Amino acid sequence: MEAAGAEGDVAAELRQRLAAGGQDHVLRFWPELDGAARQALAAELCRMDVAEINRFFRRARGDGGGAAAAAGLDARMEPVPRDVLGSASRDRGLVPRWESRGLAEIAASRVAVLLLAGGQGTRLGVPYPKGMCDVGLPSRKTLFHLQAQRLRRLQQMAEEQHGTPCHIPWYIMTSGRTMESTKEFFQKHRYFGLKKENVIFFQQGMLPALGFDGKILLEEKGKIAMAPDGNGGLYRALGSHGIVEDMERRGVHSVHVYCVDNILVKVADPRFIGFCLEKGADCGAKVVEKTNPTEPVGVVCRVDGVYRVVEYSEISLGTAQRRGPDGRLLFNAGNIANHYFTTAFLKDVVNTYEPQLQHHVAEKKIPHVDITTGQLVQPEKPNGIKMEKFVFDIFQFSKRFVVYEVLREDEFSPLKNADSQNGKDNPTTARHALMSLHHCWVLNAGGHFVDENGTRIPAIPRLKDANDLPIQCEISPLVSYGGEGLEQLVKDREFRTPLIIDEDGIHELVKNGL
Ligand code: UTP
Repeated sequence: MEAAGAEGDVAAELRQRLAAGGQDHVLRFWPELDGAARQALAAELCRMDVAEINRFFRRARGDGGGAAAAAGLDARMEPVPRDVLGSASRDRGLVPRWESRGLAEIAASRVAVLLLAGGQGTRLGVPYPKGMCDVGLPSRKTLFHLQAQRLRRLQQMAEEQHGTPCHIPWYIMTSGRTMESTKEFFQKHRYFGLKKENVIFFQQGMLPALGFDGKILLEEKGKIAMAPDGNGGLYRALGSHGIVEDMERRGVHSVHVYCVDNILVKVADPRFIGFCLEKGADCGAKVVEKTNPTEPVGVVCRVDGVYRVVEYSEISLGTAQRRGPDGRLLFNAGNIANHYFTTAFLKDVVNTYEPQLQHHVAEKKIPHVDITTGQLVQPEKPNGIKMEKFVFDIFQFSKRFVVYEVLREDEFSPLKNADSQNGKDNPTTARHALMSLHHCWVLNAGGHFVDENGTRIPAIPRLKDANDLPIQCEISPLVSYGGEGLEQLVKDREFRTPLIIDEDGIHELVKNGL
């Protein structure tokens, strides 16, 4: 009796709070729920700040401010000026200097990496976090595994060059949907040889999905439809979990932030870090050249004198097609969500700027329970919104912003879709991108590939299109981080494929054994 009374009190109190925010419809099915479901729903709702959610909705949906701000965008955009731009290919002569500066910083344990791994990976559609994905490489390594080994190799390189032990703390942001499985995976694989205390997990926030009218949607009768608050949820999460303080305690000065799904990502890239340090940057973006005006990629540029990413959908085709005197697209700095921040800048963001960030609205098809009929609805067209912040939203606060351009085929191949969906950004393209790059590394180091008859295969390393099969070649990150150190292993030697080079040596595998 008493328990039922207490439960009734909780419901009454909740109802009152929700009603004040116009969201009490979420209790519509309360009488049908059993004790456990009621408890779970009440707990979820108690954690929720309804007034704040309503405020986010009003600001994100706006009073026309968003549209007004977007108006005339084309005319207000300026490309990244050359003096804040470094290019791995066009400034090749400076790269060794940047690299050694970055490695020295790593050797001094002043560099950390921060992985954004809180996404739901809906397009890929696997029932586990994307980082656990095995894209079918000969080694069957997952994305997490590759990234961990790159970190180990970098630490080793920095230690060898500077003679001091060092570590690169790895902060991993997960969400309510990915935390447990991610942690378990790392435990199971013993942190891929990294020290457990240098792998720090923290969780980003979640927000409810809303109808176009701002009403919270129910995923089940007793469950709110929740989604992570975007990769820009990072900044709030940094604050709520004391991550910047942890960085300060560890003496971290530079942080490389990246997305889980780029198979080629150069975690803690010493060249990028060194370039940003030389420029005295507080914030930097690594970009790849956008070559096709209609490619759906955001570009880094200045708008009204402030740096930001302009999405391809925000500008006209005419603007996207504009070319500079060198014949390249004028707005060609393609954003690959690969950023540099100083700890001090992150601290300012967390303490001062984060509340100013506005959510972006994504209109989505959101399965939900119809509040009148109680039936589950699978919409065929968008029926509601998810509110998200983006990791690049903070560029506008930078006092010294820089851009570092790299070659797409060396550093960017994202995993977004399932193989079945379309020919872009899927496990096959990711696998091919990695093997094609490693093929190049072997050729650059003086190695050759031969076919089954022993005839040399012509050295045409890049794939012409996604359907071409690459040479099967995979080099463990523990052997080479970015193509270095391979000459002694491969120079003037001939290899049959599939070829794996790892810490145990060189393996030419029998084709049908894979
Ligand atoms: P995407 O925007 O591509 O989203 O994330 P996603 O979750 O991987 O895939 P879809 O859109 O559901 O198919 C880009 C990066 O940002 C991270 C992702 O984990 C990925 O590394 N991310 C995204 C977060 O960390 N949190 C989020 O709320 C959203």
